[in-house]
Amino acid sequence: MKILGIESSCDETAAAVVEDGRKVLSNVIASSLEEHKLYGGVVPEIASRRHAESISGVVSEALSQANCTIDDIDAIAVTYAPGLIGSLLVGVNFAKGLALASDKPLVPVHHLRGHIASNYLESSLEPEFLCLVVSGGHSHIVNVKDYTEIEIIGKTRDDAAGEALDKAGRAMGLAYPGGVSIDKLSKEGNENAFEFTHPRVSDSVYDYSFSGLKTAVINTIHNAAQKNIEINTADLATSFQKAVVDCLLEKLSLAADNYGAKKLVIAGGVSANSKLRQEVKKLCNKKKISLSIPELKYCGDNAAMIASQGYFEYKNGTVANESLNAYATMAIDSDYKA
Ligand code: KG4
Ligand code: ZN
Repeated sequence: MKILGIESSCDETAAAVVEDGRKVLSNVIASSLEEHKLYGGVVPEIASRRHAESISGVVSEALSQANCTIDDIDAIAVTYAPGLIGSLLVGVNFAKGLALASDKPLVPVHHLRGHIASNYLESSLEPEFLCLVVSGGHSHIVNVKDYTEIEIIGKTRDDAAGEALDKAGRAMGLAYPGGVSIDKLSKEGNENAFEFTHPRVSDSVYDYSFSGLKTAVINTIHNAAQKNIEINTADLATSFQKAVVDCLLEKLSLAADNYGAKKLVIAGGVSANSKLRQEVKKLCNKKKISLSIPELKYCGDNAAMIASQGYFEYKNGTVANESLNAYATMAIDSDYKA
């Protein structure tokens, strides 16, 4: 079964064709990232306009690279939540039009479920597993009981890990996205140069909180500036990255123990982080449990992961009609209701 996936939740306009949820026949991405760099973050208005300009060409290219026409496609999967509403609406409306014109089923896909599905691409991974989903807007520990059955174990109470890295990078004067810049700079820094206290979330052992860490790094920078002390940015970036990764893994490790996890998985933009990838490997080796990490090219936003999850949602009976809407927020464990 061939699924055409469409993704436009943030600044990537993406389309892909994936066979049976795993075999990537094409994966096309047009990004407006370079334009947003000027402003130090994604400008929603610009992102929406670029989606509107690119989407038709990106979808045509994805079909062509897969040696397909729309007639060869069994269903059209589209990200409908969560994300920037103006961005999501472009993908959702394009997919609705295409589904109507070609008389193909339309399958709504939750963006974060798509990130989890990036681990099914070119792999034989099957649920059940425990997954750390870390992106620019979300940080979750979830139990993936089945392809479309997800239980939230923990989530951030405030900032996402990616957001904290991006804001910290910005305060350090690094290029957007800060997470990527910090990862690059961490090759040159000392991770023990600065110490950051791990936040405690009083009434939950699995929930995260990153706003305190973010404030701590910003205060470090401001205090040094006031005292005219020069900070080694590579050391600060590396120490901050270590603190974020340590926090993420502390709770993931606890959840793995308490849930008796046999498989651990990471997903989302931050799963590209070299320190996170290194430390989660160590953790799984120590616990003797298997680990799945998405290929680097599938960590960030792409449509292959949406086509993959779309395949499993479709097999589970999830189909939308022309009234499908986009939603800026949507819990990962909520199923689509027509
Ligand atoms: O999943 P994603 O591409 O978009 C959202 O759904 O949010 O995630 C973007 C986030 C940004 O915060 C970015 O800084 C972070 O992923 N990110 C990284 C790395 N690559 C992307 N963070 C740390 N290290 C990286 N190598
Ligand atoms: Zn994403």
